[in-house]
Amino acid sequence: MSDTIAINDKISIERVGDVALIRIDNPPVNATGQAVRQGLQDAITQINAEGTAKAVAIYAAGRTFVAGADIREFGKPFVPPALPDVFNIIEASAIPVISVLHGTALGGGLELGLSTHARIGIEGLRVGLPEILLGLLPGAGGTQRMPRLTGVPFALEMILSGRQVPAKEALEAGIIDRLESGDPREVALKAAQDVIAGTLKTRRTDQIAVVPDQAALDQTAAHLKKTQSHLYSPHKCVEAVAAAVLPMAEGLKIERAAFMDCMNTPQRAGLIHAFFGERAVSNIPEAKGPARDITHVGVIGGGTMGSGIATACLLAGLRVTLVEVAQDGLDRGIATITGNLDGAVKRGKLKADKRDSTLAMLTTSLDMGALADVDLVIEAVFEDMGVKKDIFGKLDAICKPGAILASNTSYLDINEIAAVTSRPQDVIGLHFFSPAHVMRLLEIVVADKTAPDVVASGFALAKKLGKVGVRAGVCDGFIGNRILAHYSKTASYLVLDGATPQQVDSALEGFGFAMGPHKVGDLAGLDIGWMTRKRKAATRDPKERYAGAVADRICEEGWFGRKTGKGYYVYEGKDITPNLAVDRFIAEEREKAGITPRPFTDQEIVDRYMTAMISEAARVVEDGTARRPLDVDMVFLFGYGFPRHRGGPLHYADTIGAAALVARIKDYAKEDATYWQVPALLEKMAANGTSFADMNKEA
Ligand code: 3HC
Repeated sequence: MSDTIAINDKISIERVGDVALIRIDNPPVNATGQAVRQGLQDAITQINAEGTAKAVAIYAAGRTFVAGADIREFGKPFVPPALPDVFNIIEASAIPVISVLHGTALGGGLELGLSTHARIGIEGLRVGLPEILLGLLPGAGGTQRMPRLTGVPFALEMILSGRQVPAKEALEAGIIDRLESGDPREVALKAAQDVIAGTLKTRRTDQIAVVPDQAALDQTAAHLKKTQSHLYSPHKCVEAVAAAVLPMAEGLKIERAAFMDCMNTPQRAGLIHAFFGERAVSNIPEAKGPARDITHVGVIGGGTMGSGIATACLLAGLRVTLVEVAQDGLDRGIATITGNLDGAVKRGKLKADKRDSTLAMLTTSLDMGALADVDLVIEAVFEDMGVKKDIFGKLDAICKPGAILASNTSYLDINEIAAVTSRPQDVIGLHFFSPAHVMRLLEIVVADKTAPDVVASGFALAKKLGKVGVRAGVCDGFIGNRILAHYSKTASYLVLDGATPQQVDSALEGFGFAMGPHKVGDLAGLDIGWMTRKRKAATRDPKERYAGAVADRICEEGWFGRKTGKGYYVYEGKDITPNLAVDRFIAEEREKAGITPRPFTDQEIVDRYMTAMISEAARVVEDGTARRPLDVDMVFLFGYGFPRHRGGPLHYADTIGAAALVARIKDYAKEDATYWQVPALLEKMAANGTSFADMNKEA
């Protein structure tokens, strides 16, 4: 006999004999919002007050156990009860309480499990404490209970990486007590009966002593100081785990204080913007319509880009036909793809026993006729409009009706390419970022005549490839490269005016970029920018200050960066040192231009660089190239190494404010009124007192 009562609309108790089953039902991911917290507290209190049950089992409905605290509540007024208090009540329950975890038990969800007296995992479970990825730390007992179960080193690694631990490893580490298969309710009922029968042991985590490990704590703290000094929460995590040697109540107090400190940082706000932005960016009507079936993809061009795109498609289980013009190009493409797949095996992205069957999904040809039956073609040849037009003209004649014809161009006009075909509605830009099988950004460039189901197919492809699809309009460089082309000039101006390339790099690395712009230039190849400058030389605005003087001098020496051993830096083995010849070029270019160098602080370098980036980003939003400010943010987070804890350029812009930005631009414009112009959108926002976040909400 069983009977069920609802505590509230998220939590219910079902009685089956001596067992009380508590069910959490808060779709989509059973986050512990206020009603779940309140319901759990009331359920445990009620079951204990009645005293009739001999065992309690908590499980969740739907596709996953609890995914953690409800992130949407962060930053809003708090409504009790607090999660740690609820978990303390569960842990203190006189009647044994166990939990059954399925899907993912993350953050507060895993902490709920840790507060119960035994944990059963269901096959396929993954557990994790991903709070660090949101600029937080486990704030509901995770930093105190995890070290008690697994020891300090394992807990530190889990908390600092935020990684999801597979079920088997969780069992071995002592996080879960049993691994079973089946329906969560059935497993919960059986396990609770085992508790009553004495065949499943229970214990309170707070009564387990922590094995002290000061050496692990010290080593970790020192490593973080060296590698993550610009981040806040990792250091707080270590502080909180260190407190696990104290009595539980004291440790929990320290954890709570550290958690609240993290909650109040802009880093937390930036990371949560990134979390929701990643999901919101493709949550647009155009992405949701009916899409065309894509199972077979043609890729034209076996260079780094084409091979990377082919690899990404193969890894997603798609058939790929790679076409090149000459056998040596094809051989290089096959070798690159094979190497990429081997790399994916090494990185754990592809199972070793799937490597050969994945590669077998690749066919190659020197004849574009091989593309007659593909569902989608992605052209990835070099950036020459004539060559692209020729290819699209041929594709028009070869490809089956309804095939999608895509260009991976980074800046060329998709409308012009589409116009050479008789089916411009099937033509779209799919702009991947190198290495294309690793970088998560995919700009989906919608031309004037692109059909809605072709746009939806672009988003469906992004999802299938595990990428973040961002809608972009047609213009030179789309969202990312257009903004980059503008702000990268600032780095050159700063150097001409008195900073060194190394100072610019280190200032921006201090801001959070993994590499400064000169190091990035050396890595990408300085010849790329050199070619672009030459291509644009004839159309350059004569009033605009030339930014390429120093880079041109470097390229004239045949120094294109890392691949030639020299660029802004000299590369010898693992050693990277400034290229002293560049100092001479800078001095000579300053003299030619009559510039008296002046000192820059790191802050001024960051301010100018970021203000230039924000200015062009604002124009990109204003003219509709990007749908919303958050679209620009996601492009930069997933394609340009923008520091995630800053949330993206326009989230960061809100931390400065439109009025302050306008004032800054006007100030810089006193030196160079051509480059530093106030975007109309920023001017309007400053006048109305609005933010980019407001625009995201309205969109
Ligand atoms: N709070 C609120 N909403 C959440 C959420 C959370 N913790 N986790 C996911 N969601 C929402 C998503 O925004 C999305 O909403 P949408 O449909 O409106 O876009 C929906 O749930 C589904 O999420 P996904 O699209 O990400 O679904 P997946 O199946 O791909 O992934 C998941 C599921 C693995 C659970 C993933 O959502 C995830 O990683 N969530 C975040 C987990 C997390 O960071 N937890 C820690 C929270 S902080 C905490 O617990 C503090 C504590 O220590 C005190």
